Amino acid sequence: MSQLTRTGVSLEEDLLKEFDRLITKRGYQNRSEAIRDLIREALLAEIVDSNKPVVGTLTLVYDHHVPNLSEKLTESQHAAGAMVLAATHVHLDHHYCLEVIIMKGRSKDIQTMADRIRALRGVELGKLVLTNSGKELKGSKHAHPHSHQERTA
Ligand code: NI
Repeated sequence: MSQLTRTGVSLEEDLLKEFDRLITKRGYQNRSEAIRDLIREALLAEIVDSNKPVVGTLTLVYDHHVPNLSEKLTESQHAAGAMVLAATHVHLDHHYCLEVIIMKGRSKDIQTMADRIRALRGVELGKLVLTNSGKELKGSKHAHPHSHQERTA
């Protein structure tokens, strides 16, 4: 863990009140941790924007009765090669399947792949979450052995 330093922030009273309300609702114990998370989120957004290596999960809900859709989904994953690390499939009901595809690669490549899959007829929902190990984010929670929480991007 890197050295902690203190900093002061000036902001409008109303804005601070709203912030406190939000972070209380989200379960933060104090402002510092909430502000640190916002900063990490902004840094992660920059990593994603600059097309650096990231990991991504694409969550899909699709109707497997739509002709050729299952084949197209399998093909697109084969075509992506080493970018796809794993995929999990759950049969939700008679019609719908849930699939989570875990990918690793440049953010733009993962986004392109996700866009292609989402555009397929029969894919009802496709949500992509990009993140990274956090090693590039200074002051990452991974540096704290006592609070090894999973981060959501
Ligand atoms: Ni299924």
